[in-house]
Amino acid sequence: MASRTIEVSVFDLIVFGGTGDLAARKLIPALYHRDCAGQIPAGARIIGVSRRAMTRDAYIAFVEKSLRDHVTDEVADQDVQKRFLSRISYHAADAVSSEGWEELSAAIASEPERVRAFYLAVGPDLFKPICEHLAAFNLVTEQSRVVLEKPLGSDGASAHEVNEAIGKVFREPQVFRIDHYLGKETVQNLMAMRFANRMFEPIWNAMHIDHIQITVAEDLGVGERAGYYDTSGALRDMVQNHMLQLLCLVSMEPPDKFDADSVRDEKLKILKALSPITPANAGQLTVRGQYRAGANAGGAVPGYLDELALAGGKAKGEAESDTETFVAIKAEIANWRWAGVPFYLRTGKRLAERLSEIVVTFRPISHSIFAESAGVISPNRLVIRLQPDEGVTLQMMIKDPGPGGMRLRQMPLDMSFAKVFGVRNPDAYERLLMDVMRGDQTLFMRRDELAAAWRWIDPIRAAWATGRELPKVYTAGSWGPSAAIALIERDGRNWFEDVQ
Ligand code: BG6
Repeated sequence: MASRTIEVSVFDLIVFGGTGDLAARKLIPALYHRDCAGQIPAGARIIGVSRRAMTRDAYIAFVEKSLRDHVTDEVADQDVQKRFLSRISYHAADAVSSEGWEELSAAIASEPERVRAFYLAVGPDLFKPICEHLAAFNLVTEQSRVVLEKPLGSDGASAHEVNEAIGKVFREPQVFRIDHYLGKETVQNLMAMRFANRMFEPIWNAMHIDHIQITVAEDLGVGERAGYYDTSGALRDMVQNHMLQLLCLVSMEPPDKFDADSVRDEKLKILKALSPITPANAGQLTVRGQYRAGANAGGAVPGYLDELALAGGKAKGEAESDTETFVAIKAEIANWRWAGVPFYLRTGKRLAERLSEIVVTFRPISHSIFAESAGVISPNRLVIRLQPDEGVTLQMMIKDPGPGGMRLRQMPLDMSFAKVFGVRNPDAYERLLMDVMRGDQTLFMRRDELAAAWRWIDPIRAAWATGRELPKVYTAGSWGPSAAIALIERDGRNWFEDVQ
C-alpha cells in the first residue's frame, strides 16, 4: 500500500548543528525520505550551518555518508539522491559572535516570502545567541519558524529563561518544540484508536481500567553521549518529555478538535492534575537506578561508570556519578476520570531489550458465570506497541476450541502495522519536519505544557537530593533494579511481560 503525502509549500530549512549527530542520524535521512516520497517541493533549500569552515563539497560528502549509513538500500535511489544533494548548501556561522552571519544572511535573503525554518539542533545554551543573531540580521520574517530540540532547559527556571529569550524573537505560533515521540506512528495511532472508535472511550476511566503501564526500555548504554547524559539522567532525558507526553495522550480528555491548541489544552490539564511527588512520598513512588557491567544479546557490556570514564578520558574505575540511568515512577492523575488509577512509568538504558509500549489493564469482570474448571479469567489488556513491531494487541478471553466442555483461555487479537499495511514506517522526524513546514503545531509542545511538566519533575529531583540515597544498582541486560519490581508488586500487580 502506498502512503499518502500532503503537499508542503516551498521552504528554506536552515539547520544549526548541521554537521552534528542529529543532523546525520535523523534530519538528513528524514528529508531524503520525504524527497523520495515526492513531498519536497522544487526549489526548496536545505542549508547546513555550523561553526566549522567547510566547502560545499565537504558538506555534500558528510550528507552522502549520512545517507549511506542511515538509509536502507531499498530506498537508495540515484536520481533522488542527485536531486536531494542539489538542494543542499553549507555556511559557517558562529552562534556566539557575528562571524559568518553576513554571508548566511545574504544566502537566505533572496527568498523572503517563502517558509523559513531555523532548526536549532544544538545545545540549549546556544538557543538564545542564535535567536538574537537571527533578529539582529533581520532573518526572522512573518513566515519564519524556529524548531527547538530538547533538552529545553534542565529545570523549570532554566526552561523559563530559554523560552523568554526565544519569545523575544519568535511569537509562540512560530515556536516548534520537538518531542520526537509525538511523531511516532503508534503515538498518533493512540489518538486514532481512542477518538475514532466508539468502543474504547466509554470504558476509558477509573471504573473500568485497573492501571496503565508505560515502558520505554532501551538496550543500548550511553556510549559516547555519557558526557551529556551525566548532566541529565533518565528523569530529564526521558520522563520530563517523552514519557509525560505518552501519559498525556493516553489519559487526556477528548479534545473538541484535532488541532494544535485543542490537543495541547487537554494535555496541559493532565500535567496540572498529576499528584505531586514530594520528599515525603518519593521513596514510595519512585525508584532510580544505574547500570553496572553485565551482558545483553550482543555479549558483555560495560557499566555506566566505565562508559563515563572512557568518555571523559579517565581510567576505568575513576568516574563517579549518582546520575540515574533508570527511573520507575508510580504516578497518579488527580481528576474525576482517573482518581485511584496508578500509572506506572519505567524507562532505562541497558535493559533487557529495546521495547516501548503502553499497557492498559482493565478491571476483572464483575462476576463469573463459569465453573472453576473453566480456568482463570484474566483481565483484558490493551497493549499499544511503539517499537519495535509497532501495533496493537487486545488480550481477550475466548473458549478453547474443540470438545471437552467450557475451557477458557486468553488470546491476543493482534494487529502488527507492518504486516497489515506493508509500508515502511516513516521515522518520527519525517512527519515532524513536514508539520513544521506546514505550520502545524499539534504534535509540538506549547510553552505552558513544558512549564507544567517541569513543575512536576523538579520536586522529584529535589526529593532525591534531600533523600541523599544513591541510585539502586542494576545489572546491564536486566529489567532494572529489583526495587522497581517491588514498586508495582507492592500493589499486587506486575510489569507486563508478553509471553504469547
Ligand atoms: C532521546 C534521548 O530523546 O530519545 C535518548 O535523549 C534516547 O537518550 C532517545 O535514546 C530514544 O528515542 P527512540 O526514538 O530511539 O526511542
